Amino acid sequence: MKRVVCVFGSPRPDGNSDILLNQAIKGAETGGGVIEKIVIRDLHIAPCNSCNGCFEKGVCVIDDDMQKIYSRFVDADVIIVVSPIYFMGVSAQLKALIDRCQAFWARKYILHLPIRKDASVARGFFIATAARSNGEELFTGAVKTMKSFFHVLDTKYMGDILCAGLEEKGVVYKKQEILQQAFNAGKQLLHRNSE
Ligand SMILES: Cc1cc2nc3c(=O)[nH]c(=O)nc-3n(C[C@H](O)[C@H](O)[C@H](O)COP(=O)(O)O)c2cc1C
Repeated sequence: MKRVVCVFGSPRPDGNSDILLNQAIKGAETGGGVIEKIVIRDLHIAPCNSCNGCFEKGVCVIDDDMQKIYSRFVDADVIIVVSPIYFMGVSAQLKALIDRCQAFWARKYILHLPIRKDASVARGFFIATAARSNGEELFTGAVKTMKSFFHVLDTKYMGDILCAGLEEKGVVYKKQEILQQAFNAGKQLLHRNSE
């Protein structure tokens, strides 16, 4: 059974980001994936304070809910992350989680340790929602952040769904094609052969 770690990056419960990730989860469930939800707004995750404490053992020294999350990423076969676009980037809540993955960076690049014992590569997928209906480079910053995050986690960036024009809570329910895309993405991440 594949482990699918789903990271809810919006502080707004039941908003557009939650709805789309739940659609992807429904798709992943058709492939028999074991779903693990990480709802960041329900957790206490401090930002990285650049103490370099992780340089010694590749383990973060801050004692908060992030400690429960590291092993989930290590054990994941698929990681799906959703975030609203905030000021052209990901939400602050998600960015705090990502920055705390500096511990994985230290593991890899300072201590030369593998992220996963069997050196396997997980699959990563990103979903983003934004209010503006157009705008050059609306998603560029967030996508770069997510590619960097997945890279550190030895996770292949399989693709993304970048949804513009979503402002009010739940408005994505009116966009049947996007809901279907999210469902299909979850399904394909489980069904697709290793690449
Ligand atoms: C603090 C904040 C910053 C935002 N910045 C942007 C932005 O830079 N560009 C944009 O198109 N939408 C921006 N938005 C709108 C959200 O991205 C959009 O409403 C999104 O669909 C919210 O997702 P949610 O329903 O999952 O919370 C911002 C919203 C907030 C609250």
